[in-house]
Amino acid sequence: MKIVLVGYMASGKSTVGRLLARQLGVEFIDLDDYIEQHQKKSIKTIFSEKGEIFFRKLEHQMLAEVLEKEKSIILSTGGGTPCYGTNMVTILNQSDHSIYLNLSIPNLVERISKEKDNRPLVKNIADEELPEFIGKHLFERRPYYLQAKHILDCNNLDAETVVGRIKELL
Ligand code: S3P
Repeated sequence: MKIVLVGYMASGKSTVGRLLARQLGVEFIDLDDYIEQHQKKSIKTIFSEKGEIFFRKLEHQMLAEVLEKEKSIILSTGGGTPCYGTNMVTILNQSDHSIYLNLSIPNLVERISKEKDNRPLVKNIADEELPEFIGKHLFERRPYYLQAKHILDCNNLDAETVVGRIKELL
């Protein structure tokens, strides 16, 4: 079984994915970590040395590679993964369950303001500009996230509870 988690930066994809994989006893793959291992560089360095387009092409290629594996996995994607090229089609065609971890703009702003440094797309955005930036960015990205098979409202839920809700969907 393949389960793919999608959603905006800091929506809990990696934390929830890791916990879910442990509970289901299947392999967990974080697409950002997979890319970093492949390139032997951090996402931050890939963005600064090679730029975003290079990263998006790599992300596209790595997504296809991971989903071609003949085994059960829980995959947490990057916030932009479903929103470029044909990635959402790949996710829908190659997974049994795709799940959008939906969080409100205020909740995302709160989380992201605490962890901007390793996220190249937001690290230079001033805190007071984050709500507007995230609001616009989500407006562009949500149509992709909403194509996921399941939409899970994660506002005010801890990771354990989100995992419990996901298990009810499977
Ligand atoms: C990105 C999100 C990041 C990472 C890269 C780009 C995005 O992953 O893939 O910095 O475009 O939203 P997280 O969603 O895990 O932060």
